[in-house]
Order: sequence, then C-alpha cells, then structure tokens
Amino acid sequence: VDSLCMLTPQLIMAVGTAVIGSFQFGYNTGVINAPQNIIESFYNETWTSRFSESIPQSTLTALWSLSVAIFSVGGMFGSFSVGLFVNQFGRRNSMLMANVLAFIAVIFMGFSKLAASFEMLIIGRFIVGIYSGLSTGFVPLYVEEISPTSLRGALGTLHQLGVVIGILMAQIFGIESIMGNASLWPLLLGFTLLPAVLQCALLPLCPESPRYLLINCNEESKARSILLKLRGTDDVSEDIQEMKEESQQMMREKKVTIPELFRSPVYRQPIVVAIMLHLSQQLSGINAVFYYSTRIFERAGVSQPVYATIGAGVVNTAFTVVSLFVVERMGRRPLHLIGLMGMAVSAVFLTVAMALLDQIRWMSYMSVVAIFSFVAFFEIGPGPIPWFIVAELFSQGPRPAAIAVAGFSNWSANFLVGMCFPYVEQLCGPYVFIIFTVMLLGFFVFTYFKVPETRGRTFDEIAAGFRQSAGQGADKYSAPEEFNTLRGDDPDL
Ligand code: GLC
Repeated sequence: VDSLCMLTPQLIMAVGTAVIGSFQFGYNTGVINAPQNIIESFYNETWTSRFSESIPQSTLTALWSLSVAIFSVGGMFGSFSVGLFVNQFGRRNSMLMANVLAFIAVIFMGFSKLAASFEMLIIGRFIVGIYSGLSTGFVPLYVEEISPTSLRGALGTLHQLGVVIGILMAQIFGIESIMGNASLWPLLLGFTLLPAVLQCALLPLCPESPRYLLINCNEESKARSILLKLRGTDDVSEDIQEMKEESQQMMREKKVTIPELFRSPVYRQPIVVAIMLHLSQQLSGINAVFYYSTRIFERAGVSQPVYATIGAGVVNTAFTVVSLFVVERMGRRPLHLIGLMGMAVSAVFLTVAMALLDQIRWMSYMSVVAIFSFVAFFEIGPGPIPWFIVAELFSQGPRPAAIAVAGFSNWSANFLVGMCFPYVEQLCGPYVFIIFTVMLLGFFVFTYFKVPETRGRTFDEIAAGFRQSAGQGADKYSAPEEFNTLRGDDPDL
C-alpha cells in the first residue's frame, strides 16, 4: 500500500512514455513471425522478375534468416552505443533522439514492396534494430533512475511488459484478415511510425532523470524540484541524500570505461553476473519461439498455427503481469531460478511431443501446451529481470557502460539464436530444444551460486556489497556475504 502511494501521475506518465520504446522493440521482434510465407513469396517474385528464374530454396532460407536476424545485429550496435548518448545528452533526450532511426526504418520497410526491393526491407530491419538496441539501454536506465527503491523491480518490469504487448500486437496485426496479407504487409511493418510519433509528442512533457541531473550535472535544485513532483511528497531529502552519497562515491572512482569494468575487481563480479543473466535470457531459446513459432506449430501439426502463435503472445503478456506483481515480494533471485527451471522442464516436454508426433496424434496439443508453459516461465523471471537488474547492480559511474556491455551480450546471443535456429532445427529435427534445456540447467546453477538479491536495497547499498566482497578478495566470484540472505533466510520474506 505504501509503495502504491508513490505511484504519482508524473511517475506513471514518465514510465509510460519511456516504455513506448520497449513496445517498439517488441513489435519489431514479433512482426516477422506470422507473415513469413507472404513476405517470402514477395522475395520470390522480386527474384523472379530480376533473374527470370524462381529463387533457390537455400537462398530463400538464407535471405529470410538474414531478414529476421539482422534486427539483432542492429540491436548489437544500438545497445553498445548507449553510453555515448546518455551522459552527454541526458536520459530523456537520448530517447527522443533515437526516434529519428525509427522514422528512417519505417521508410525503408514501408516502401520496400513498392520499390520491389527486399534489400530495403533488410536495411530497414537493421535500422529499427539499432533503435531497439538503444531502447533496451535507455528505457531500463531511465525507469530505474526515476523509480523509488521499493518500486524499482515492478516499474522495471514495465519495460518487459511494453515488449510483450508489442509482440502481441504485432502477432494480432499479422493475422491475414488484418494486415498479414500480400497487399497490406508493408503497413504491418510501417506501423512502427505511430508509436514513434506518440513518443516524440509525450517525451518533452516528461522530466529528465533527477539522479542524472544531480550526480552527472551537479544541478541539485533542478533535481530536487523534479523529485518533489515524481514522488508527490514535500520531503525528498532522503532520496537526495542517497544520491549525494553515490555522487561522492563516484568522485572517488576513476571514470569507468568498458575495459575498466573487467579490470577492476570491484566491478568484475557484477559484470559477470550481468552478462550471464542476459545470456540466460537469450540462450533459453525464447526467440526461437517468437521468431519462428508459426513454423514450429506447423511442424507440430497444429492446424491454425497463427492462432497458436497469438496464444503464445497472450500467455507471454499474462505472465509478465504476474511477474510484475510478485517481483517486489519474492525478489529477483527466486523468480529467475523458478523461471529457468520451468523452462528447462517445458523444453523436455516439447521435445517428447515433437519426437512422438508421428506415432501419437494428440502430441500436437502437448507441444502447444509445452510452448505455452515455456513462455510462461520465461516471463516469470528470465524475461523481465535481466533488463532492469543491471541498473541495480551498478552505481551511477559504471552504470551506462555496464548496461552497454550487458545489452550487447544479450543482442549477440539473440542474433545467434535467430540466425542459427532454422539450420540447427534442420539438423536436429525434433530434438533441437534439448540444446536449450542443457543451457537452461547451466544457467540455473550459475544463478543459484552467483546472483545476489537486489530487492529493497538502494543502489548505493548494492554497490557497497560488491565493494566489500571484492575487498575481502578471498572468494571474489561468489555472491557477496550481505546478499546471502535470500538463500533461504531473508528476514522480510
Ligand atoms: C525479452 C527478450 C526478447 C524477447 C522477449 C520475449 O524482452 O529480450 O528478445 O523477444 O523478451 O517476450
């Protein structure tokens, strides 16, 4: 109840506007799933009219995988560049500027059909990927910095909620009778224009991050007046005090560059944790589902694969909401662990279902259930948590660099899965998800031993925990002492 009072209109407005960027990322993740066959025939027609022969199947597979996966290459570039923007232009203005990319991407994707050029579509996917990569850094950074400590996890999860709603809307719009058909698919891809316009209209009404103003720009009075509105109280001295402490701490640190993150013993442990959490998110295989589920369902003998895909999107959204409500109560660590284990088990069921499909008819239903539960467990922890926990694991100085590194790992793994899945699937057939099961179990073990709990702690306290454990030196890579409480005996659970 206490925390809910802190949800002021200003805070809701700022977070709501920021997560339009997350929506864009999700929309463009999900948008190429349903219309695969239709856009493939456009590729074929274009090819035929250029070379007067139909496109070889292998070329088509390659071109399609490229169209899907180049989005993540863009994401790699974007996420890696986050640090270039956020300190120089501020958090809010960085988000605003990124929209230029969304507009350019819309032009390329929206007009590719008219220009009979699949190259344009591929370039557009690349550019919207850069935009999305930037968003996955900007949005969690901004949201975490403006949120009160007790709501950081819940509001941080709104980034993922934006993503999943984006995916779901893309899936629905992709239905044949809406925009997933031969004449309207350019509109389906061009839809990204509307959220971009909306975000550009609303962002100027949102405040800059007070933490950025105070710590990076030394503008205490501005920071204070923004905080007063965001918090809706007339006393924000505690927040200001905490920021000042972080600021002092930061002055004692050298400027933190990316190589420094790996060299300094203070940052090494949190950066390893951040990277591993992001790898666990992508190498779980989630995007094999969100890029290719229509194909997977087709193979599994589902008669209406597009509707099954939408079903996956609905489950995805529903369980993100569940996570939103439990993350501040249960903490990050248990939810991530439950999610990984649940996904591993679901992947085993999926494999069994796919393998027995020819012998047992109803196995096609089991594969649908298995994919739904795979997705549900993903959103309990591995979906939302990695995106916002990196901001929590680092203090103001190293935070942008850490977010860039973690985001880059995420997008690289995203690319790997998007590009390789169709090939590996051809190789392994129904057993392809076993690979993900093995990875999931590995990440479960890592999380169990190395990931600290961050719930309810201020940024400064979390950083102090890592400093302390690096100082002790003895066991640099294990979870810091003061975080160990959640391994069973958290007093306020
Ligand atoms: C996460 C992942 C993204 C995935 C989505 C699915 O945001 O980063 O790659 O598509 O979840 O909901």
